[in-house]
Amino acid sequence: MSRLVKISGMVDPHVHLRGLEWSHKGTFHSETSAALAGGYWAVLDMPNTPPSTVRQSGLQTKLNAIDAEAVCDWGLYYGATADNNSATYPSIIDDVCGLKIYNNATTGDLLIDTQTIREQHFRYWPAHKPIAVHAEGETVVDILQLVRQYRKFTHFCHISTAEEIGYLSAAKAEGLPVSIGICPHHLYLSENDVPHLGALGRMKPELKTKADVNALWQAISEGVVDVIESDHAPHTLAEKLMPTPPSGVPGLETTLPLLGLALHEGRLTLEQIVALVADNPRHIFHLACPPETYTLIDFEYTYIIDRQNLHTRCGWSPFEGMRVVGKIIEVWIRGQKVYNGEQILAPSGFGRNLCHNSLIP
Ligand code: NCD
Ligand code: ZN
Ligand code: ZN
Repeated sequence: MSRLVKISGMVDPHVHLRGLEWSHKGTFHSETSAALAGGYWAVLDMPNTPPSTVRQSGLQTKLNAIDAEAVCDWGLYYGATADNNSATYPSIIDDVCGLKIYNNATTGDLLIDTQTIREQHFRYWPAHKPIAVHAEGETVVDILQLVRQYRKFTHFCHISTAEEIGYLSAAKAEGLPVSIGICPHHLYLSENDVPHLGALGRMKPELKTKADVNALWQAISEGVVDVIESDHAPHTLAEKLMPTPPSGVPGLETTLPLLGLALHEGRLTLEQIVALVADNPRHIFHLACPPETYTLIDFEYTYIIDRQNLHTRCGWSPFEGMRVVGKIIEVWIRGQKVYNGEQILAPSGFGRNLCHNSLIP
């Protein structure tokens, strides 16, 4: 039996692609291939992989590299810096999808922990493109204060606790322009999995308690959550086995089948899934779905996640061994079949910068 479902214009607005100085972990080609294999039309790439996209030069280097290699459509975030790079905003704004502000400890050196510097970024960032924030715990409250002051649309990445959901539900009730993203690993794994996963269960934010996991599912069912985002951040197995392993897990190829599992178990409806992985992220980032851009998924197909079948170069998954539901049958972009369920059919460089081509005015 099969249950074929068509979803138009799937977007993952939170990935850390690899390439350039981090090509040993993956390349723009390998990780955008993982995006297609996961059913995605487009991904939005974070600014903190070297070279950081915090000046025009670093941004240009990344634009050139991804433009030559990407097989899906894409956008790049600009990164806010502690030394206040807001004077460069006018020169980069047309090339990027949004601004990312890291407000808690993270990979790379983009941490901003002083409220006055955060305020400068909120003040000068052009209001027509979203701000995305990494903010955990009480820091969510600090950022909400700036949203209240400047009324600039702010996406809260990878929300992982009941406490954070509480702050953001209240912010939405207050009418603040905010959206909430949640990652599959915070829905399907908890701190109880860290002992057996070891470093493969280490990411930022870290895995939380069962009570937090339940609060996230509850928030999704109540419609408080806007986006499911992977925070795809592959590192090699060798790096993960080192004494001080880097944080981050791959996720682009497992998000949709994990949501298919929730569909199968009756925890989510198909309408909710379409909103979380396609319609809502497109609306938040003002992305127009190009004609004939969709994914066909068989939501009767169940299989066990196995590293052999992944396109991400890192070749592992924290979800390995889980039985999931949903096989990506085909992906089409702009009338061209780019994935046939097994192979990537798009040539390197097929992907376009959405901020040049698909923005809704
Ligand atoms: C990210 C990575 O490795 O690129 N890791 C992660 O755990 N999310 C970087 C980051 O945002 O910390
Ligand atoms: Zn983050
Ligand atoms: Zn991230």
